[in-house]
Amino acid sequence: MQFKYKSYWRKSGLKGKWGNIFLERLSYHNPRNVLEIGVFCGVTAKNTCDFLYKSNGDNFSFTGIDLFGIGQKDKRDEIKPNFLKDQKFSNPLKNIYYNYIIKEDLNSIESVQKLLQEYSQNIKLIAGDTNKVLKEIDLQKIDFVFLDGGHSYETVTNDLSTLYENMKYQKKVILCDDYGKESYISEVEKAINDFAKKNNLKLNLIENRFAEIIT
Ligand SMILES: C[S@@+](CC[C@H](N)C(=O)[O-])C[C@H]1O[C@@H](n2cnc3c(N)ncnc32)[C@H](O)[C@@H]1O
Repeated sequence: MQFKYKSYWRKSGLKGKWGNIFLERLSYHNPRNVLEIGVFCGVTAKNTCDFLYKSNGDNFSFTGIDLFGIGQKDKRDEIKPNFLKDQKFSNPLKNIYYNYIIKEDLNSIESVQKLLQEYSQNIKLIAGDTNKVLKEIDLQKIDFVFLDGGHSYETVTNDLSTLYENMKYQKKVILCDDYGKESYISEVEKAINDFAKKNNLKLNLIENRFAEIIT
């Protein structure tokens, strides 16, 4: 089956072929309950919900966590991609539309909620720092995680520890972005390698970008 990741005229962390490769991983594992850590403007969230709806009808859930612009205690903790620093667009039409006409912050919880409104019964969006909020939510039913939030060593390690504590020995999937040389962040790679070694986990490198962990 051919996958077509749509951009919904917004910014996404998965540009070009990467969105389709992400959808292929979803299709391969065919989950019902997905968690995305680092929702950004909601494009991967929307594509994930479209996919889940096609595979499961109404019987799916999507949980998304992001700072949504708040609660970032220490800026040094997060290594942000350049496109996150402010709402700049290379397309001047998008700049006029989002910044001057509708004046919408695409990385706000309200904006992402609006994008996902057709799935409002199936989604839960949480604004907060995963170092705290991930410990407070029920992770038992989640069967696929896209880990793409804070990129510091400490945050990736904390997120993986909390996820693994709740998902281990259940053959669930944690797909981590920014691991391989196609989208490399050194702290992310180091945190994932150290975590895998400590817990004796095998890492599956996907297209030189994602690290996939089966719990
Ligand atoms: C690379 S973007 C995610 C891209 C998104 N997954 C996509 O495919 O379009 C990273 C996001 O993680 C969020 N983030 C960074 N540190 C975080 C933290 N400690 N807790 C929750 N979200 C965080 C940022 O606000 C940002 O929106």
